[in-house]
Amino acid sequence: MEASRRDFISVAIGSLGAIGGLGALYALVRVMLEPSEIAALGAKTEVDVSKIQPMQVRVTSWKGKTLFVIRLSQDFKPEGYPLKGVKNSKGTTNYEILKEHNVFALVGICTHLGCIPLWKPQGEANVAQKPLFHCPCHGGFYTPYGDVITGPPPRPLFIPPQKLSGNKLIVGEEGFIKELI
Ligand code: FES
Repeated sequence: MEASRRDFISVAIGSLGAIGGLGALYALVRVMLEPSEIAALGAKTEVDVSKIQPMQVRVTSWKGKTLFVIRLSQDFKPEGYPLKGVKNSKGTTNYEILKEHNVFALVGICTHLGCIPLWKPQGEANVAQKPLFHCPCHGGFYTPYGDVITGPPPRPLFIPPQKLSGNKLIVGEEGFIKELI
């Protein structure tokens, strides 16, 4: 009985020590970083795109949001999708912005009500027999560039700022895309 009481007290003291240590570490980090640096924590996501096969999508996150990193194949044909005709914040299609690139990232959040679309490399009967994203919540469909094919999404998927450096795609840093579009 006495031994288990001693054990309990030792565990309690050890836990308090660990919590105190974490608190001290947090305080130290706050002192070492400027407020702008703290705000920027997690603002960049780096993905080794050499590990993504053609026509595959890597799902990761950027600033707490789902992120799709896509590698199109060299022979991928962007034509043939029946588009809904909605535009991004630049007043263009995403394709017009991304057409020179076969590796890029999109924010993986449906622009209708925020579900996460699914990647369907074989396409979907009655929509397009070509690779596309399907948001099953209310039947939204997007091309691999994030342009809306059909369904309720009011605009294309967002394109985050991004830069390609060798095999590294850095999302959250100005490069071939400078700002969130
Ligand atoms: S949330 Fe995607 S279609 Fe409604």
